[in-house]
Amino acid sequence: MTRLLSNPCLRLVAAGIFAIGLACCSSPSTSDQREAGSISPQAMADALHAVLESDRTVYARQVVHRLQDQEEVILASEHWQDDKALPLPAQMFRMGAEMVANKTDAFSYALISKWPVNKQNEPGTEAEIVGLDSVANNPSAAFYARESLGDAEYFTAIYADVAVSPACIACHNAHKDSPRNDFELGDTMGGVVIRILLTE
Ligand code: HEC
Repeated sequence: MTRLLSNPCLRLVAAGIFAIGLACCSSPSTSDQREAGSISPQAMADALHAVLESDRTVYARQVVHRLQDQEEVILASEHWQDDKALPLPAQMFRMGAEMVANKTDAFSYALISKWPVNKQNEPGTEAEIVGLDSVANNPSAAFYARESLGDAEYFTAIYADVAVSPACIACHNAHKDSPRNDFELGDTMGGVVIRILLTE
């Protein structure tokens, strides 16, 4: 982490997130959450997640649900380029994740599920399997773990991905490749996994 934060750009981002954290959060200020003059991997993962989850919810509610289901002006489609349609929320999320992966190794994120429409989104590591069960049982609590993958060490955080809009459940329940068709509004449909690189 110290090595990562020696990167001036990351230091700026971390300082920004830290400032937002200081301004907005009255909750826990244990040494695991904040350290003087730096930011813990957990606080960084939580801050990244707050941004990712908010953007995802806004897109699902104000773009997909409003324009597809309420105003009925444009559809969301897996084949959004051919169909001249809106990309699915999961595709928006992945395009962002891929762009980040091209910019930095310092952190990465993905959307996974025990009931994936796309088999590629199944949990792959032990922490992902345990973490998805944990957030399915207790969606308000994030799951945290340390992982060694290849030669690298990561701080891994998993957060519940919840059906925040009727569009989420309508599409998944009706999708031919979905292994589940009984999702209800507010259910945990999967998880967002965020990995912070600690050492290489
Ligand atoms: C119009 C259809 C549609 C809508 C709306 C939609 N999804 Fe999906 N979702 C999909 C498809 C298709 C995939 C697989 C995409 C891929 O990985 O290529 C997917 C992927 C996912 C995944 C990853 C695991 C998997 O199933 O492959 C999660 C978790 C998920 N969606 C949750 C949600 C949530 C929560 C919402 C609402 C915020 C939502 N979806 C809205 C169709 C939809």
